[in-house]
Order: sequence, then C-alpha cells, then structure tokens
Amino acid sequence: MAATEPTIDRDSFGRVIAVESLKGGVGKTTITANIGGYLALSGARVLLVDLDPQGNLEDDLGYADDERNDQGESLAKALMFGGKVDGIKNVRENLDVWTGGSALHNVTAVLSSKMGSDAKTAKLALAKILAPVVDDYDFIFLDCPPGDGVLQLAALAAARWVLVPTRTGAKDIKGVAKVAERIDQVLDVNRAIDLLGVVLFAVGTASERKDGTVVMKNAERDARADLDAMFGVGEEGGIGREIVFTQSIRHSEAVASQSGRAGLLVHELDERAKQEAKAGIAWWKIRSGELKNKQLTSATAGSVADDLQTIAQEINDRLLEAESRMLARNRQTEETPVDEPAEVEPAGVEPTPVAEVAAPPAPAPSQPKTPRRSAAASVEEDEAGYLALERKETRLREGQIGELTAHARRLNKAKTGPAPRITENTLIRVAIDLLLSRVDELQGTTEADLRRSVGL
Ligand SMILES: Nc1ncnc2c1ncn2[C@@H]1O[C@H](COP(=O)(O)OP(=O)(O)OP(=O)(O)O)[C@@H](O)[C@H]1O
Ligand SMILES: [Mg+2]
Repeated sequence: MAATEPTIDRDSFGRVIAVESLKGGVGKTTITANIGGYLALSGARVLLVDLDPQGNLEDDLGYADDERNDQGESLAKALMFGGKVDGIKNVRENLDVWTGGSALHNVTAVLSSKMGSDAKTAKLALAKILAPVVDDYDFIFLDCPPGDGVLQLAALAAARWVLVPTRTGAKDIKGVAKVAERIDQVLDVNRAIDLLGVVLFAVGTASERKDGTVVMKNAERDARADLDAMFGVGEEGGIGREIVFTQSIRHSEAVASQSGRAGLLVHELDERAKQEAKAGIAWWKIRSGELKNKQLTSATAGSVADDLQTIAQEINDRLLEAESRMLARNRQTEETPVDEPAEVEPAGVEPTPVAEVAAPPAPAPSQPKTPRRSAAASVEEDEAGYLALERKETRLREGQIGELTAHARRLNKAKTGPAPRITENTLIRVAIDLLLSRVDELQGTTEADLRRSVGL
C-alpha cells in the first residue's frame, strides 16, 4: 500500500531559507551562523538547523562543549521517526539551534532507502518536523552539508527560499547552476520554492597585477557577469530581478580562524578587537613579551562583520520586497470578480517590517511575527516563482557558446559608459535578426546548402 504523503501547510514557511551549494567550503555555515546571529541581534526570532553530519555550526557559535549539544541525535531521530526536536534554546538571545553532527549519518541511510519506496515522504521529512514550530520564528536558516544527498533534498523540500554561496572561480560558478537543477527535484512536493540569491564568499580585495590586469578584482567582476548571464538578469525571459547580492564577503583567513577557535561570531570578534584596542593591547607588547600568551584579534574583523551585516540587511530587504509583491498580487486576486480568470501567483506571506538589521551592540526591539498571508491563493495551486525563469537549452554547436561568451566579455569590457550588459543571448538575438534580414537568400534542403546559400 502506498504511504500517504504528509500534508504541509506552506503558509507559514515564508521565511525558511536553505543555505545550499553542492560544493564544500563556500561559506554556508559561516553565513548561516553570522546572518542568523545578526538578525537575532536585531530582535528577530531565529532558528538555525544544522543538517550537516560535520556539525560545524558549533565552531562558529561556540557551543561545542555545551552539555545540550547532542551531535544531531535529537534532530536525527525526528527526521527518521517524526516528533519534536530538542535543540539548544538561546545559544544567543533570540537564537535557537537544532544541532547537527555525526548522528545525522544514520538519517542519510534511512531516508535514502525510503526514497526508493516513498520519495515524497522522504523529501518532506524536515518540512514535517518544522511545521509545528515555524510560527515561533521570524527566520529559519537551514545549513546544508555539501554534496547532493538526501538531506539537501529534505532542506529544499522545506524551504521557501534558497541562498547559494559560492567562491568566484569558474568551476564554482558552474556549481551554482547545479543547485538550480536540484531545485527541480523537489518541485513535486514544494511548488513555492524560489532563489533568494547568490552570495560571493571569500572574495579577494587585493588588486594583484598579472600581465597588466588586475586579477583579484576581475575575478569578482567576471563571477558577477557569469552569474547574471546564467540567470538571464536584465534579459527578456530571464529571472526578472537581481540574483547576486550587491555585497560580497571579503577573504580573511585570520578572521575565519580566530572566529572558529573562539566560538565567536564575526561581529563578536570585532567587539573583542575593540576591547583590546581600548585596553591598550598592541602587537608590539605581545612581540616584546610584555603581554604573554595573547593573540591580537585581527583588525579585519570589523570589515568582515560589516560585509555580513550588509548581506543580512540585503536578505531582509529582498524578502520584504518579494512579500510586498505577493501581497499586492494576492489583493488583486481577491478583488478579481469570479467570472474573470485570476492570475495564479507564487506563494507568499504578508510582509512584516521585521529586523531593520541593527549595528551591534544595540539590538532593535523584538518585532511581531510574520502574519499569515491571505488564504486567497493556496500554495499548493501556485507555480514556483523559480519556474518563471525560461530555460535556454538551445542546441548550439560545441564550442559556439564558449566563443559567444568570449565575445560578449570583450564587448562588455570595451563599454565606456553605463549600458545594458551584453550576454550570449544578446548575440544570439543579433544573429537571428541578421539571418532574418537575409532570409530570402536561403536556398536548399540541408544545413550545408543553407550555409552555402548565405556564403558561410
Ligand atoms: N571571510 C572568510 N575568508 C576566508 N575564509 C573564510 C572566511 N569565512 C570563513 N572562512 C573559512 O572558510 C572555510 C569554509 O567556510 P564554511 O565552513 O562556512 O563553508 P561551508 O560551505 O559551510 O563548508 P562545508 O561545505 O564543508 O559545510 C572555513 O574554514 C571557514 O573558517
Ligand atoms: Mg558547512
């Protein structure tokens, strides 16, 4: 007998965000901990779910030795058998965690075998246990393990939004397209999922010169251009909004390692640096042995903290914008007379003025919980906003797309003023118009004939 798929009321899932990438070491955990930390500091109620058997979130938040840290035991049990998760409450003010760790290895085995017999129920394992608590939080971040396993599918099946961090290398950028493919695999159980955006992680700020070019800065610029082209930003049939976050996270190994060792979020590390400065602790005193066993906190902590804070603000802004759009559409749907066909709109919740992201250390007062959206458009009937993105799988000859990319880049580099970006698709449109302008010359019955007739 086929098992019944759990029914998930999606109306309250509007701020469940999966931080997902197929690649490892791209900043998923750093972003989950620090962005969650900022939003909590601003007065929003935040839950972080560590779905990674590595359990790395404990390092960023410093609860590794907390007796309530069960290495994912409670979360694993709930994912396999249902029930309530015993997480750590108030790991910081307003910030709760469902801890991850080695116990989650068992979940992968159990859910993978379930995928064969009852894939929908397996995918919905996390959504089902989140459902009773989603109303308790303003934001829920899901820290995914790297790779393409069943835990990532469970996260995507629970999420309203997907946040994809990436480094700037060409291979990293290609990996982002793979996340979009993974989203397709949960559309059977989650039609409301959409991309919140892509965050560039560990971006070099130095302008290293090589052959007369500024290598580091070019890396970020090229990554942005490639991602915009991937999602058709600014193009007809594209995603219709910005995808890459304006702010990127700068590279700093010193900050990363000090934050992990101390179990402090980056803004807390920055606070420590300020205290040290106040106390007159300087590097020369440590070097000279005047202050023994001291390590000076990196002065870059302040800049990295600023990057993370700006991204937290951008996330909040994007959510508010999407929610206002949906609210306006829902109102329009409600006002549409029944005999007129109503446009089916993506799922959403009412916008809430949650969390103007405050600069530490002065947290903003707690904000009201996101109210439920109008029941006018049920999530189950809605199309995923993500599907609005037209797929451009034109069958081009091998090597053609590479040539087009190179020419698009060359033309963009030659630009002297602000103008819409030239992409591969821009060139394809020009090529088609060129052909249409000479269509009368086309003769023949094979591709070779057609080419010859126009002099190719
Ligand atoms: N601003 C930064 N610059 C350079 N490295 C950083 C920065 N912030 C964090 N790191 C380090 O980069 C590494 C990867 O970060 P993180 O653990 O957040 O990535 P992840 O995507 O969660 O990795 P995984 O896929 O293994 O879970 C970690 O060692 C982290 O300490
Ligand atoms: Mg991680």
